Amino acid sequence: MNNGYLNKLYIAMVGLPARGKSTVAAKLKEGLKKENIKVRIFNNGDLRRKLLSEDSSRPDFYNPENKANAEQREHIALTNINNASRYLQGDGQVAVLDATNVSLKRRRTIQNILTDHPILFVECINNDEEILKASITKKTEQPEFSRMDFQEAFDGFKKRIRYYEHIAQPLQEERNYYVLDSLNNQILGERMNDNIFCNVQVRDLLVSDWVKNLFLVRHGESYFNLENRIGGDSELTPNGWYQAQALAAHFKQTNIPNIYTSTKKRTVQTARPISEMQKNAQVMQLKEFNEINAGNCEYMSYDEIRREKPEVFYSRTKDKYNYIYPEGEGYVTLKHRVDRGLKKAIYLSGNASYIMIIGHQAVNRMILAHFLYRRKEDVPYIYTPQDRYFHIVSTQSKKLFELKRY
Ligand code: F6P
Repeated sequence: MNNGYLNKLYIAMVGLPARGKSTVAAKLKEGLKKENIKVRIFNNGDLRRKLLSEDSSRPDFYNPENKANAEQREHIALTNINNASRYLQGDGQVAVLDATNVSLKRRRTIQNILTDHPILFVECINNDEEILKASITKKTEQPEFSRMDFQEAFDGFKKRIRYYEHIAQPLQEERNYYVLDSLNNQILGERMNDNIFCNVQVRDLLVSDWVKNLFLVRHGESYFNLENRIGGDSELTPNGWYQAQALAAHFKQTNIPNIYTSTKKRTVQTARPISEMQKNAQVMQLKEFNEINAGNCEYMSYDEIRREKPEVFYSRTKDKYNYIYPEGEGYVTLKHRVDRGLKKAIYLSGNASYIMIIGHQAVNRMILAHFLYRRKEDVPYIYTPQDRYFHIVSTQSKKLFELKRY
């Protein structure tokens, strides 16, 4: 085998629709570019949208029984396979085929044509029904579905997935592959028979965080904050609204397409001026970001808890992380749902350059702990001021953490 064979690479994405393939492809491209490697993505969906009418957004376009449309899809796939080949014949080093490639037949076609360099298949798997539903909902907002109402677009996309499920076959005979849990950035299976160009970088990228810029904000001052009361669902004070306005003005020039809040009024209200000042921000309420549930201490002030429920007050002071409020939560139980909310927000944001999460004190501490690797016992004391926000970057090549004024 000559060296020319090994110094370039085809990466072929594999996976049902809405499994995060394009995000992973973009992550590989941006990550490898930082290593001065020339990468290009060949996306079948983009080519389809360019070449074909809106009919190709309808589910029956994906029905394998429908010969004429199957041929059109085959034509698009072959065009991209050939473009990828030409790219590597030139000065390109890595060509990424971003398409479902779920059938063995399609993968054999790829392998039969692309014989000049190794092929690495990267399969993305995510079977989390709830997150898939949210992801499909988000997809229905794309321009290609603009002529359909939400339900038609949503049901149509699910039907499209079912058509792909009919023809999907697991990776088995391919020489090189990774099977990736794309929600948890975890490699579930791998096989390497060839020396894969830049495999070390690729593998590490697949498991790395991909948070280009996260602005983590605590909601503005609420009426309960003024009284030192916990929990509840109180509104922002005039000062809280002022903070929200100031935050909005601060981020006016930054395009933040995805803003996540809890379902509580104080976070939703904090998001309002920001989303109004943004051109096309989408605000999504995630219940996973609701503040710690203080059970039968909800609505009480810390002073009242000390006076009326001293056993709660002192047990919590002794071991704040592990203490669980009667009929409520503790940091220890909050962790799971906040982690899930964070994964969900990151997954749904795809390759967005900016994400904002507007959360609460305990919730933001858990999110910060994820990026800061704090000892558990210190997490419930992380400083989360309301007049500042955290700017977080966590990618393979950069870790940044900054508390900023607005
Ligand atoms: O005081 C505001 C608040 O968000 C409460 O709703 C919540 O119970 C508390 O902060 C969490 O902080 P700590 O764990 O320090 O009590």
